[in-house]
Amino acid sequence: MSRASQRIVPQHVAIIMDGNGRWANARGLPRTFGHRKGVETVRETVKAAREAGVGFLTLFAFSSENWRRPEAEVNELFGLLKAFIRRDLADLHQASVRIRIIGDKVNLREDIRSLLLEAEERTAENRGMTLVIAFNYGSRDEIARAAARLAREVQAGRLDPCDIDAQKINDSLDTAGIPDPDLVIRTSGEERLSNFLLWQSAYAELMFVPDFWPDFTAAVFDMVLERYAARDRRFGGLSNKVVAVGS
Ligand code: FPP
Repeated sequence: MSRASQRIVPQHVAIIMDGNGRWANARGLPRTFGHRKGVETVRETVKAAREAGVGFLTLFAFSSENWRRPEAEVNELFGLLKAFIRRDLADLHQASVRIRIIGDKVNLREDIRSLLLEAEERTAENRGMTLVIAFNYGSRDEIARAAARLAREVQAGRLDPCDIDAQKINDSLDTAGIPDPDLVIRTSGEERLSNFLLWQSAYAELMFVPDFWPDFTAAVFDMVLERYAARDRRFGGLSNKVVAVGS
């Protein structure tokens, strides 16, 4: 048995795919070329995650703050997601991948909204890996929408405020039913979470890799999984690796 097949695999990996623009700039290319190459990396990473036995893979494709970019770049990113769903949905479905979308769908263009809903519906029964695409997503926006949802339940008399606990909040987030990420990866050397899965990442292991997203190969992913397997996760308790003293 190889080392890779014996190691602890994170159930949920979430990735901030950063550095497309800098990858393109370094080659004297327009930023859009970086995003296009980034889609190829998305395909390779989905395949590598499935092969590694990852159950949930979340990719940060468009943040609620990305609207601040030039309109042409925003349109490019929307177009790339549409093209990815159109081109890859059949293959993902065939591979039993389930697609979930997180983020504010209400304020999305109708063409993209219906395409995303169709992808979710068509793959809803799949039991292979779940590919979660964070699109028009921001963690604070998600938490605010969850709070509004709970407030409406209270207002309607269906929920007692005393019963609002962490589980209720979990169940009101876009990620309801999805386990918390075990591992959050950010490419490009930046070391911040940028409003990504803030609530859900409370106990996630964080890994920052220097490679720009288009350079994030299956080999780099494998190295990150290897480093994850060596981490000692304690969730506020004591290490499993330390022999109990005085217990
Ligand atoms: C960050 O790089 C990347 C994004 C804002 C978009 C990521 C989108 C894709 C990889 C393509 C579409 C996604 C899917 C799931 C098909 P940046 O532009 O901020 O890079 P920079 O920091 O170097 O400028």
